[in-house]
Amino acid sequence: MSYRVLTGITTTGTPHLGNYVGAIRPAIAASREPGVESFFFLADYHALIKCDEPERIERSRLELAATWLACGLDPQRVTFYRQSDVPEIPELTWLLTCVTQKGLMNRAHAYKAATDENASAGEDTDAGITMGLFSYPILMAADILMFNAHRVPVGRDQVQHIEMARDIGQRFNHLFGNGHELFTLPEAVIDEVLAMLPGLDGRKMSKSYDNIIPLFEGGAKALKDAVARIVTDSRLPGEPKDADNAHLVTIYEAFATPPERAAFRAELEAGLGWGEAKQRVVERLEREIAPMRERYDALMAHPERIEEILMQGARKARALAAPLLATLREAVGLRRFVAVPSEASSKRTANKPKPPEFKQYREGDGRFYFKLVGGDGRVLLQSRAFATGKEAGQSVAALRSDGVAAIPHAGADLGDGVAEQEVAQALAALAAA
Ligand code: TRP
Repeated sequence: MSYRVLTGITTTGTPHLGNYVGAIRPAIAASREPGVESFFFLADYHALIKCDEPERIERSRLELAATWLACGLDPQRVTFYRQSDVPEIPELTWLLTCVTQKGLMNRAHAYKAATDENASAGEDTDAGITMGLFSYPILMAADILMFNAHRVPVGRDQVQHIEMARDIGQRFNHLFGNGHELFTLPEAVIDEVLAMLPGLDGRKMSKSYDNIIPLFEGGAKALKDAVARIVTDSRLPGEPKDADNAHLVTIYEAFATPPERAAFRAELEAGLGWGEAKQRVVERLEREIAPMRERYDALMAHPERIEEILMQGARKARALAAPLLATLREAVGLRRFVAVPSEASSKRTANKPKPPEFKQYREGDGRFYFKLVGGDGRVLLQSRAFATGKEAGQSVAALRSDGVAAIPHAGADLGDGVAEQEVAQALAALAAA
């Protein structure tokens, strides 16, 4: 059975080598495995919670999108989108907010840490804390539940958020599911052996320690300069080196094959100087990174190409999100007002509402048309003219499979006074039938 894996990428900052080895590379490798349906998204609404500098937000989401694509994420194979291009996510966030206990949010680690800090500084406990920070886990739950993700790979610090998503999803299922599972309950996947790359000084590579090796930023020169600053011991060329205790070796090994690793260790034990060793590290890193950097630079020179890829991803995502949201709106009671059936018709249709249907036809102008007619007889979608019946049929097929996301390309317009939501509901009903 195929399962869904969903990966969220917060768009603050610029990726470094540690992010590549610890997160980007393994996630892309996992997305290529058979039987996996992967969702990758830029969590830019989450980024707004942590950052109020528009230029940094803009820059970071572009760089991150270019990075993941350059590193081999295949947008044909996975669904790759920006959170902020899927309006169903904030809408779901509200539905979830309404069933989330405030007490649950009070227990979130990030919120508690912020209030603790305020308390120890003698401030009001909620000083400087936005509702965004407080509700952060609900938005995250919406990200996950929206796509019925089975597995969510995260770092340890995020596990609590996944548990909260389960709690919230479960509560929603219980309140509104009527015996059905509206949401799949997600599981956190924590990669314990997740390669944690040391930085220049041997501590975990992290921007806050100012010990990073940049991935693409600054080009080959910046990478080489950073490697030159990796701290080693003071053993001279000719003296045997202790490979087990050199983080230069750890960094090398994150990129090398087993035979390459063995050869490097042997050379160091035989007295290879640190300067030369660093040159080998640069060469090995470049072999993997240079081709990716080339793709990265090409993408960064054409942001409009990245835009196109992400908008296509958003359409794929919305084709799944819109029908689910339509079901959820229905479930909570946000329903269309429809004509009260007359007695005669209610007898005829006794407890069986008429399903919506597509009608294809040819007009006197010799051209081909279709319309989507709701169960109540209203025209929900009216196509424009098609030269052939085949084209009209293809358009209908796209609407059936992709839902409202297909509308922009379907050559069809919403009927008078019809909301997209209604069309989404009708298409979802058709898909379910
Ligand atoms: N909060 C996550 C982080 O900081 C990013 C994120 C947002 C996320 N939404 C998500 C991760 C949904 C997984 C699933 O790393």
